[in-house]
Amino acid sequence: MIKKFTLGNPINTEAVVLKADSHSVDTFPFEHRIEDGKFIFEFSMESSDIIYGLGEAPRGINKRGWIYESFCSDDPFHTETKSSLYAAHNFLMMQGSKNFGIFIDFPAKIRWDIGYTHEDKTVVTIDGTDFDIYFIDDNKPIDIVKEFRYAIGKSYIPPFWAFGYQQSRWSYPDETAVDAVIDGYDKANIPLDCVYLDIDYMERYKDFTVDSEKFPDFAGYVKKKKEQGIHLIPIIDAGVKKETGYKIYEEGLINDFFCKKSDGPVFEGGVWPGIVGFPDFLNKEVREWFGSKYKILTDMGIDGFWNDMNEPAIFYSTTGLENALNKAKSLEGENLDLSKFFELKDTFTGLSNNPADYSSIYHNIDGKMVCHDKVHNIYGANMTKAAGEYFEKEFGKSKILMFSRASYVGAHRSSGIWFGDNHSWWSHILLNLKMLPSANMCGFLYCGADLGGFNENATRDLVLRFLALGVFTPLMRNHAALGTRNQECYNFDNSDDFKDIIEVRYRLIPYLYNTFCKASETNDMIFRPLAFDYPDDKLARECETQLLLGDECMICPVYEQNVNGRYVYLPEDMTYVKLSGTNVETRFMEKGIHYIDVALNEVPLFIKKGKKVPLCKPAMRTSLLDVENLEYIEG
Ligand code: GLC
Repeated sequence: MIKKFTLGNPINTEAVVLKADSHSVDTFPFEHRIEDGKFIFEFSMESSDIIYGLGEAPRGINKRGWIYESFCSDDPFHTETKSSLYAAHNFLMMQGSKNFGIFIDFPAKIRWDIGYTHEDKTVVTIDGTDFDIYFIDDNKPIDIVKEFRYAIGKSYIPPFWAFGYQQSRWSYPDETAVDAVIDGYDKANIPLDCVYLDIDYMERYKDFTVDSEKFPDFAGYVKKKKEQGIHLIPIIDAGVKKETGYKIYEEGLINDFFCKKSDGPVFEGGVWPGIVGFPDFLNKEVREWFGSKYKILTDMGIDGFWNDMNEPAIFYSTTGLENALNKAKSLEGENLDLSKFFELKDTFTGLSNNPADYSSIYHNIDGKMVCHDKVHNIYGANMTKAAGEYFEKEFGKSKILMFSRASYVGAHRSSGIWFGDNHSWWSHILLNLKMLPSANMCGFLYCGADLGGFNENATRDLVLRFLALGVFTPLMRNHAALGTRNQECYNFDNSDDFKDIIEVRYRLIPYLYNTFCKASETNDMIFRPLAFDYPDDKLARECETQLLLGDECMICPVYEQNVNGRYVYLPEDMTYVKLSGTNVETRFMEKGIHYIDVALNEVPLFIKKGKKVPLCKPAMRTSLLDVENLEYIEG
C-alpha cells in the first residue's frame, strides 16, 4: 500500500509518475511538528532494525548511526565523515520490527539523523513546508521497493554495448591518445567497447564543440572507431562558457536561458572554462534548447554521453572572487596572525560551492522566480532530463548511453549515474559495493564507480580487485584523474591477469543484460542486501561485504590488499564458482562461513542451489559476442 501525504504547494519534481490521492500530513503515521519553517518527523527503531536507502550516499548498506543530508554536492573526498555526495535520493526504508518505506519528494535540503543523536530514533528534518511524502507499507522489503519503483516509473535501459568494458581518463585529448588506448587493449587482447572523451576534446572547454586541431575530422574519426567496434563517449558539463562569438552562449544570453541573480543579471560562476552561464534547466524551454544541442554531436555519430558538474559545481562566483581578492589586497603587508591568516585562507577555500552563491541563484519556473535553494537537488537531474527527453524523441529508447553525476529520483527513467570522484583506496571497493543496492532501490540500475579509483595513484592489485567487482556492475568503466598513474590495464605488468578478469565480464554479459532488463521491466533490484532474502538470519542481516545478484547469485569481492582470498558467509548451500578468462572452477559449499581463495586474476561468484547462470564465449567487442550459444554453470 502506498499513501501520499501533502503539505503546502510542492514543486513538481516529476519524480513520481503514479497518480495518487493526497492525504493531509496531519494523518501522517509518525510523530511530526513544524519548527522554524521546517517539517520534522521521527520514528523509533529497535536495536535489530535495519535502515536502508538514500541511494548514492556515504557509509554502509545499513544507514544507521549517522547524519546524512540530501544535498547534491561536488565533493571528491568520499570519506565516511561526509553527509552527502552528488545525488539526492530521498528514499528510506526500515526492515525489522516494522517494515515500511518513505519517499520525500522535496527538491531542497533534507537532514536524516538515523540514530546519530539518539541511537534508537530516526529524525528527519525537511527544510520547508511544501512537499509530498509517500509512505509504503508492506511485508517484505523487496515488495516495498517494487511498490516505490512502480510509483516512480521504469528504469532506463542503455544500449547493449554499454555493458562492454569502458576505458576513461582525464584526458585522452586527441586522436593519437584515443588510438593508443584502443591499440593498447587490442594488442593485449583485452576486450573493450568504449573510450571516453573528457573535457580536453572540446575547444576551450566549451560544451558541444570539438577542438579541430585535436580531431581534424571528428565525424570521420567517430565513424572509423565505430568500424573498429569502439564507441567514443564525450563529456558534457553543466556550465556554458561565456565567450563572445560562441553560439551557444550567445543564444542562451539572447533568449534569457541562464540562471539569474535576484536583481536581474546572469549569475556568473567559474568552472573549467572560466566564467560560465548555468542553463536554467528547470525551465522547459531551456531543456528543449539544451537537449537539442546534443544533436551537434549525435550528427557526428556520437551515441553516448556523460553529464558532469551538474550539482552544479561552482569553483567560484565572480562576486565571491572579487570579495576574496579585495580581502587579500586589504591585508597586503600586514603581519598575519593565526586568526587573520586562516580567515584569509578560508575565504579562498570557501569560494567553491559556496552556500551564499547557491542562495543568490534564481530560476524561472513557469514564469515565477524561484531561489535555487528551493530546488537545488533537481538541477542536475533536469540537465539529464533535457538530454534524455531529446534522445527519446529523436532516437527512441535504449539507443543512446547517458549517465550523469548529479541526480534525483525521476532521472532514473532517462539515465544512469556514476558515483563520482572516488579514490584509489581499498575502502572504496566496498563503498562501491554498498552503493549498488541503495541506488537500485531508488531506480538507478545503470550505475557504477570509477574502477581503479579516480583520485590518486592506483596499484596493480587494486585495479584488478576493483575490476573483479566491476565485472558485475552494469557500468564497467575504469576512469582516473589528471596527473595520476596510467590506469589502463595494458600499462600494468602481466596484462593477461586483466584480460582474465575482463573476459569474465564478456562471458557474463548475456546473463547480466538479461537480469538488468528484467529488473527494469519488473521494478526489481539487480543487487540486494542479503537481509532481504534471509531476514531471520543474523549473519545475513549484518552482512555489508556481499550482495545477492538477480535470483541466482551472490557476489563477494576481495577488498583488501595483500590477501589471497576472503571470508564469506553462505546463508544457504551454494556452489562456489571461480571464473578466470575461459576457466570455470566449481565447488559445492555448505551454508556457513568459509575462507575462499581468490587469485588476482579470478572473479568469485556463488550460485544458489538449483539455479544456473549462462556464459557465452568471450569476444573483443560486445558486437562480436555469440549470445545464442551458451553454456551453463549450475548451482
Ligand atoms: C569531474 C568528474 C570527473 C572528470 C573531471 C574532468 O571531476 O567527476 O570524472 O574526469 O571532472 O572533467
